[in-house]
Amino acid sequence: MRVLVLGSGGREHALVRALALDGAVSELHAAPGNPGIGELADVHDVAVTDPAEVTALARKIVPDLVVIGPEAPLVAGVSDALRDAGVTCFGPSQRAAMIEGSKSFAKQVMTAAGVPTAAAVTCRSEREAEAALARFGPPYVVKADGLAAGKGVVVTTDREAALRHARASGTVVIEEFLDGPEVTVFALADGATAVALLPSQDYKRAADGDTGPNTGGMGAYAPLPWAPADLAEQTLAEVVRPALAELSRIGRPYSGLLYAGLCLTSQGLRVVEFNARFGDPETQVVLDRLGTPLAGLLTACASGDLASAGGLSWRPGAAVTVVIAAEGYPARPVGGAAINGLAGARRVPGTYVLQAGTAIDDAGQLTAAGGRVLNVVGAGDDLAAARARAYEAAALITMPGGWYRSDIAAAPAPGTRQAT
Ligand code: AMP
Ligand code: GLY
Repeated sequence: MRVLVLGSGGREHALVRALALDGAVSELHAAPGNPGIGELADVHDVAVTDPAEVTALARKIVPDLVVIGPEAPLVAGVSDALRDAGVTCFGPSQRAAMIEGSKSFAKQVMTAAGVPTAAAVTCRSEREAEAALARFGPPYVVKADGLAAGKGVVVTTDREAALRHARASGTVVIEEFLDGPEVTVFALADGATAVALLPSQDYKRAADGDTGPNTGGMGAYAPLPWAPADLAEQTLAEVVRPALAELSRIGRPYSGLLYAGLCLTSQGLRVVEFNARFGDPETQVVLDRLGTPLAGLLTACASGDLASAGGLSWRPGAAVTVVIAAEGYPARPVGGAAINGLAGARRVPGTYVLQAGTAIDDAGQLTAAGGRVLNVVGAGDDLAAARARAYEAAALITMPGGWYRSDIAAAPAPGTRQAT
């Protein structure tokens, strides 16, 4: 079959890689892709948030399946345009993707569905924000309402900083601080049936020890040996199925990947956020462990046929990914640094490198062209082995100014997050 993947990050490289390993896939395309993706797929220079451009590309390629990686095309209505054009598309409708596109909408759905989450107030003025900060007390959690590419949330004990973020963001959701380890559970949903994938953990803060600013995610691992064995089942029962039922009830049936970002608090599981797509970098480790061929699974999901897809199979062992970021990330990433050493890294057994923000310059040199530049993935019999391999490969890569966290998967049961 012929598959087109939209997006250009490490997540999309992981999707393309898993699709390339699926014997059912005979032809792979990506838009806009990146140099790493270009080694596996034909890349097309198309604005993926433009429904007309994407539909025109699909008319040209005639794919059996389009997989939408990032949230921006979903929120822009690209999946609707493709389905209207008769294309099988993995990714929720614009109306259903609002579960990620608006924090206040997500809260409404959770409240109506009885999904456990932090108590929250939507604030549209400084006066309302002040009242909400006083109600919840420190540490303060202030979230911009719309899409913010991982930068819309401030968690701080500094009331002035919390208010500044509220003022700068317009409509905000201010909520109760949740305390406990954070985990990610992906669920595939076809409008009626849902299945959970392997729980994973992402490291959102920039610096070791979960300090520094929030980022898109600096590393991840799966599985979670310390988590309750029934975490995926519990998430389906308490979070995913009630949320999907509520979305159907309000005329926004959900098909695609529902990302549940959870906090395991002393009072039980709470939803921190929903996303309408695969997480980045969690996808890199979850797909590494998936034994079920990906193309058939996503096609079943996109065609409302998940019930007949059968159970999922998972490879034993563990995977760890370490993100190599550009100098200045997340505030002001510097582009252009030359990336070298990939050939050496490739020789470390059980590892591979996925590309995110990369480009090839006029001299043919691979360079940094984004905040998160590379994902080094290591797999092994257990987390310690996977981690050692990922770091061994990462150390062989050079990129001036580039940096990465040194504690990904080092302490599998993370302690309390720090407020900045
Ligand atoms: P979000 O974009 O909603 O996932 O928030 C980004 C990050 O902010 C989360 O991964 C958490 O680390 C942190 N965060 C969000 N909401 C809360 C909360 N209610 N309590 C504590 N930390 C939070
Ligand atoms: N890794 C967090 C996210 O994809 O939103």
